[in-house]
Amino acid sequence: MPVITNIQDLKRIYERRVPRMFYDYAESGSWTEQTFRENTTDFDQIRLRQRVAVDMTGRTTNSQMIGEDVSMPVALAPVGLTGMQNADGEIKAAQAAEEFGVPFTLSTMSICSIEDVAEHTKKPFWFQVYTLKDDDFMRRLLERARAAKCSAIVVTVDLQIMGQRHKDLKNGLSAPPKLTPKSIANMMTKVPWGLEMLGTKRRFFGNIVGHAAGVDDASSLSSWTAGAFDQSLDWARIAQLKEMWGGKMIIKGILDAEDAKMAAKVGADAIVVSNHGGRQLDGALSSIRMLPQIMDAVGDEIEVHLDSGIRSGQDVLKAVALGAKGTMIGRAFVYGLGAMGKQGVTTALDVIHKELDTTMALCGEKSVTDLGRHNLLIPRNFEGSWQD
Ligand code: GLV
Repeated sequence: MPVITNIQDLKRIYERRVPRMFYDYAESGSWTEQTFRENTTDFDQIRLRQRVAVDMTGRTTNSQMIGEDVSMPVALAPVGLTGMQNADGEIKAAQAAEEFGVPFTLSTMSICSIEDVAEHTKKPFWFQVYTLKDDDFMRRLLERARAAKCSAIVVTVDLQIMGQRHKDLKNGLSAPPKLTPKSIANMMTKVPWGLEMLGTKRRFFGNIVGHAAGVDDASSLSSWTAGAFDQSLDWARIAQLKEMWGGKMIIKGILDAEDAKMAAKVGADAIVVSNHGGRQLDGALSSIRMLPQIMDAVGDEIEVHLDSGIRSGQDVLKAVALGAKGTMIGRAFVYGLGAMGKQGVTTALDVIHKELDTTMALCGEKSVTDLGRHNLLIPRNFEGSWQD
C-alpha cells in the first residue's frame, strides 16, 4: 500500500484506476481551462504569516456551516456521476463524510438516488438542485429531498447551460459508459473498477431515470442537460424554489458582488462563491480572487462559502481567513473515492484536516473561528485592477 501524504498522491492512484472518460470528466475545465488552472494557482499567491511561541495546545477545527456543527469547515461538493468513479460512490462518500463530521452534498446528477443515500446514512445530507423545465419533476424532487430529511438544498445557479469541456465530447461521456472500441480498450485496463461496477445495480442517473417524464435515456449528460435544464432560471424562480422548499437554501455559483446581493435578498441561508471548478465560464476569475469583494459586499448579511480550487488544508485556511464560513471540495474527494473507495474519501478528509490543523498551529491560531486576514500575506493587487 503506498503511503498517502497529500491529495496529489490520491490523484495519481485515481488516474490509474478509473476509466479515462470519468477521470477526464472530473479533471477538465471548460474551453482553454484558464479559470480551472487559476483556481489553484491563485491560492498559491496568498502567503501565510508565521507566528511563534503561541501555546498551540487544545486546538480545534470545529466550527459550523449553516448552523450545523462540522469537524472542519469543509463540505463535500455535489459532483455529477460520482457513482461512476467508484461503484456506489455517492453512498460511500456520504458515509465517509458522515463519519468525519462534515456535510455531504448529493448532486441531482448522481448515480445513487436520494432515497438510496438516505437509506445508507444516518445523518441528514444536503441535496443539490438543478432547475429543470419539468415543474412536476421539480416539485417531486423537492418532496423526495424532504422525505429523505435533507437539511438543506444547494441550488446551482451557474449551469442552466453546460460549459463545453472538450474531452467529454471527444470521449462520448455517458453513464453507463457507451461501449465503443476506444472505451472498451480503456476499460480492459481497469479491471478492479469494472468488477465492482458489475457488482452494483447503480449505473444510471438515479434521481432522474424513471422519475422525469419522457426520460428513459439520460445517459448522455450533455445532450440531456441541453434539453431538460431550465434556461429561464432567474431570481424570481430562485425565490419560488425557496418557497417551495421551505427549509434552508444555499445558492451555489456566485462570482459577482451584485449577484451576491441578489442572493441575500431572496433570503438564501448561504452562498457558495464558485465558478463551478472552472467548468463553466472559462475566463472568469478564480473564486479565491473574488472572495474579498464578495465578503465586502454581503459578508455582514449572509454566510459565505467557497469552492473551486481547494486541494489542501492550507487552501481551506486561506478561504476561511478571508471570511468564508466554510468551503467545499469536489475533485479532492473524488480523487480519493476513485483511488480507494470510501477509505479514499476518509483519507482525503484526513489529509486536509491535518494540513489545516498544522497550518493553523504554525500561524499561531488555536481555532478556525479565530482565523482572519491577519494570518495572510495577500499580494497588493490580488483582486486585479480592471477598467470600469
Ligand atoms: C456538472 O455539474 C458538471 O460540472 O459536469
